Amino acid sequence: MTQLIDGKKISQEIKDELKEKVAELKEQGIEGALAVIQVGSDPASSVYVRNKKRACEYIGIRSESYELPEETTEEELLTLIEKLNKDPKINGILCQLPVPAHMDENKIIRTIAPEKDVDGFHTQNVGALVVGQQGFVSCTPAGVIQLLKRSGIEIAGKNCVVVGRSNIVGKPMALLMLRENATVTICHSRTADLKAVCKQADILIVAVGKPKMITAEYVKEGATVIDVGIHRQEDGKLCGDVDFEQVEPVAGAITPVPGGVGPMTIAMLMNNCVEAMTR
Ligand code: GUN
Repeated sequence: MTQLIDGKKISQEIKDELKEKVAELKEQGIEGALAVIQVGSDPASSVYVRNKKRACEYIGIRSESYELPEETTEEELLTLIEKLNKDPKINGILCQLPVPAHMDENKIIRTIAPEKDVDGFHTQNVGALVVGQQGFVSCTPAGVIQLLKRSGIEIAGKNCVVVGRSNIVGKPMALLMLRENATVTICHSRTADLKAVCKQADILIVAVGKPKMITAEYVKEGATVIDVGIHRQEDGKLCGDVDFEQVEPVAGAITPVPGGVGPMTIAMLMNNCVEAMTR
């Protein structure tokens, strides 16, 4: 029987653990607040932002919302971030991406103080991950590690193939698997014979942004398959980067979409917020 990795259940466990921790901190007089910035009104971003604020409420930390109009200038946004950097009541700052085209995303990320960068996007936090020092880790890949560990899947010594090399998922994912002592291969659009490389994987992690790209031919019998993708199909249903119906019978363990990796991202954001409170 293929093991279904339940991200909904695991993310709930994590949020409940964090809720307890926040209550303990409160007793010690330590309180936290997350500043959530959204520029413009992209509907998908609005859903993410709402869910992030709800999660804050659930675990018991305050969130401050900054909903800025699309026409906000980069300078205005940077001024707000600098003000929040200096505000001792704020321990986490998050600017929902993407920002409008007239803004430089890298500049915005660079301006957030690294010790408040709960997304783990600042080069100082990325650098800390590379050299194995303490810092905030990007939430989605950190969530994948928790899914594997809490599902009893051994990582050390395993062949791990990561498909996708984005700054937010693929690259930090590979570094985290390396930190857990996996043997790691990163694949991308220029990889020769992607199928053959994927078929070597004991743990296959897919973050390419292409609906149902990974079919049964890419998967070794008994492999663990982690699907980071999420897409809305024409019939309105959601699917991932992995063709679940085809791959599930071949895999040893697999994440569904929805209900796999998705809910973990916010749980790990909350984890980073609590870490920011205790530092
Ligand atoms: N846009 C898509 N994913 C993310 C995320 O994890 N954090 C932020 N800030 N923006 C995003």
